[in-house]
Amino acid sequence: MSADLRIDPSRLLDRIRSLGQVGALPGGGVCRLALTEEDRRGRDRVRGWMEELGLEVGVDPLGNVVGVWPGTEPGPPVMTGSHIDTVRTGGLYDGNLGVLAGLEVIETLQRAGVRPRRSLAVGFFTNEEGARFAPDMMGSLYFVGALPLRQARAVVGIDGKSVGEALDAIGYAGASPPMAVHAFVELHVEQGPVLEEEGVTIGVVEGVQGISWTEFTVTGISNHAGTTPLRLRHDAGWVAGSLIQYVRTMALELGGDQIATVGSLRLHPDLVNVIPNRAVFTVDLRNTDEAVLQQAEARLHAHVRALAEQEGVTVAHRSLARFEPVSFEPELVDRIEATALRLGHTTRRMPSGAGHDAQMLARICPAAMIFVPSVRGISHNVAEHTDPADLEAGANVLLQVMCELAT
Ligand code: GLV
Ligand code: MN
Ligand code: MN
Repeated sequence: MSADLRIDPSRLLDRIRSLGQVGALPGGGVCRLALTEEDRRGRDRVRGWMEELGLEVGVDPLGNVVGVWPGTEPGPPVMTGSHIDTVRTGGLYDGNLGVLAGLEVIETLQRAGVRPRRSLAVGFFTNEEGARFAPDMMGSLYFVGALPLRQARAVVGIDGKSVGEALDAIGYAGASPPMAVHAFVELHVEQGPVLEEEGVTIGVVEGVQGISWTEFTVTGISNHAGTTPLRLRHDAGWVAGSLIQYVRTMALELGGDQIATVGSLRLHPDLVNVIPNRAVFTVDLRNTDEAVLQQAEARLHAHVRALAEQEGVTVAHRSLARFEPVSFEPELVDRIEATALRLGHTTRRMPSGAGHDAQMLARICPAAMIFVPSVRGISHNVAEHTDPADLEAGANVLLQVMCELAT
């Protein structure tokens, strides 16, 4: 009977739009950086929906929120979920879709009077984005027992506030104990162009590429932009600029899946006629191949040392995040593919370019992901969009996979 059940797309869309109003940006899109007042209001809204569905809602000490709908038998739940924090210029779907589709799955079953044998859970994890506090996937990393609470709370964000302070300020440091999970399936927008380009509806995600984030601080000497000959400069800005150039060249040389991004750059004193004495910038390196990712890191650091010597500056670095590539559980991946095909959708196996909470849950239980197309492959952008028919398709695959896992 549950094989014929389908979610209600308008109910799902209504919740996506409603959550998208919290922290809405004037021209579209949302800004709900982790543990801000906007994040609190988003959390309150989703938690309210969990309570309306009669879920047993728990908040753990790092602010991860999980709603459980008890099954007919005891035991760890089949879980879904994602995150509701966004980057500063975020869209309506990244993370939010996975959480709200989870609510929709449970509501669909409740209204149909189908209560599965295993409990079902839907959660949202703190600071998945890592845009305010590094590392990304912080909440799910804590959830699986791989990040001590004290260490997480001590992390200082881009605005100088710590995770602990921000968490306490929004009232989301709870007391729920660690929980076991039977299996974890996350629905997410692809955030890349592949599915749309190929006209495929369901991405069957086999794994997530490795992530390496490093912050570099270059210290040189400020001097007059008009009077200081080039040969006498110790220009922190020039070193940063050269490295921006270098990481692209290096990624192209390494070839394959290697990518590299400098997404944040701050110069000091940041004035038109002063040679910068300080540059702080980040490098994001990713690859599905751990060995090549390590090569990229080694080449980057060697190049930084050479440039520092050439320009007479010092360079300090600190790791913000480092996660090896993750492979999802093959049986669960097969099940997602078979279910999507049974529902009449086109499918494609693919890796994930973005980091996701599912990659952390994979440390404690079988985990996998379902992707739906992102229009023009745009994400981490206010223009992020997914066709409603694709949202519906993805949520129905999630519904069926969760039902199978729970019965
Ligand atoms: C986090 O979501 C990332 O992939 O940057
Ligand atoms: Mn996401
Ligand atoms: Mn994101």
